[in-house]
Amino acid sequence: MSLSRLQINRVRNLGQVQLQDLQQVNVFHGCNGSGKTSVLEAIHLLGMARSFRGSSAKSLISHGKSDCVVYGLVNAPGYPAPVPLGIQRSIDGDIQIKVSGTALRSVAQLVEHLPLQVINADSFDLLTGSPGARRRYLDWGVFHVEHRFLEQWQRFQRCIKQRNKLLRHDKIRDAELAVWTRDLATTGAALGEYRKAYFELLLPRFKEIVSRLAPSLSNLELRYQQGWDRQLDYRDALAASAASDIEQGYTHVGPQRADIKVMIDGRLAAETLSRGQQKLVVCSLKLAQGQLMTEQGKARCVYLVDDLPSELDAPHCRKVCELLASMVGAQVFITCIERRDIEELWPQAGRDQMAMFHVEQGIVQKGVLEPRVAPTAGTSQH
Ligand SMILES: Nc1ncnc2c1ncn2[C@@H]1O[C@H](COP(=O)(O)OP(=O)(O)O)[C@@H](O)[C@H]1O
Ligand SMILES: [Mg+2]
Repeated sequence: MSLSRLQINRVRNLGQVQLQDLQQVNVFHGCNGSGKTSVLEAIHLLGMARSFRGSSAKSLISHGKSDCVVYGLVNAPGYPAPVPLGIQRSIDGDIQIKVSGTALRSVAQLVEHLPLQVINADSFDLLTGSPGARRRYLDWGVFHVEHRFLEQWQRFQRCIKQRNKLLRHDKIRDAELAVWTRDLATTGAALGEYRKAYFELLLPRFKEIVSRLAPSLSNLELRYQQGWDRQLDYRDALAASAASDIEQGYTHVGPQRADIKVMIDGRLAAETLSRGQQKLVVCSLKLAQGQLMTEQGKARCVYLVDDLPSELDAPHCRKVCELLASMVGAQVFITCIERRDIEELWPQAGRDQMAMFHVEQGIVQKGVLEPRVAPTAGTSQH
């Protein structure tokens, strides 16, 4: 997938922004507070119906306005014409989503049209945050490759909610509990299988990318934990924990406890690696998902990369850029202070598909891409 056109209205300090002829790589440069992150946030809003800063819809809307609107045209493999997407969020909480002119009721239907990956200062969360962040990461990937996943996921959420509600009652009706436990066992096992299959596909891609990005981290290990004893079927694991479930009033085992453990030399990577190394691991995880998506040919990732150089040295930034540039069909929106910050890092071969935008006080202007001047003989300093 790639965005060819974007229109942003009333998102933070961006009053009205129109971007045409978007390229494979789109660089937004400008001073602090000019509106670069807000452009990425608007794209995130278009693809996911929410901000990536974890802030409320209200804070996304320009001060003093009652709504914000983002439109985009998405080119997708298999679609004869670009697909128009539109989202409006109002200050009263209302959300309107339109795809090809048709109103959608669920965000999940929107998400499949624009698979987004964010690399920013909060991405550390994936490594250092709660298992929930890693489950969301995993589920993002499974969702985009396995279309039956969403239905199972929703069924699982329903079952576990009902089962926990029942477990919290003083007088538990055994027959009713048995029904919910049976349904939970079926859907939870399916969910676990989807995640496991996806993880096994992801792992070799991750290993390859991390060894290119940071050879010293090639002994990093990823372990998928399904959320219950590996030796048991989910049904048997539920049976084994039934007594403590009843006693404590909630379901102890299952996909709601799944995690990916990231280890290095037998220790948790989150507790051992430097911030920069952690960022490289997070970038590798995100690049691996994009790589797998490209290989499977179902869709292409759009990367929103905010402030890449924070915590990373120039050689590593360059490697991240090289990997992004090598990902066939992936589109990149990337921010920096000075345009040369990215221009100089991006591989020469990818520069014919690059667009530069200068951002200043909420105004975004397309710049001209100047050819890079090759150093002439005799001018280098010794
Ligand atoms: N709801 C809002 N309405 C108007 N301006 C906002 C709103 N929220 C944040 N801003 C302002 O938008 C500007 C752009 O922020 P941001 O996109 O994060 O800048 P940067 O270019 O540094 O990434 C900031 O000056 C910020 O104060
Ligand atoms: Mg910013």
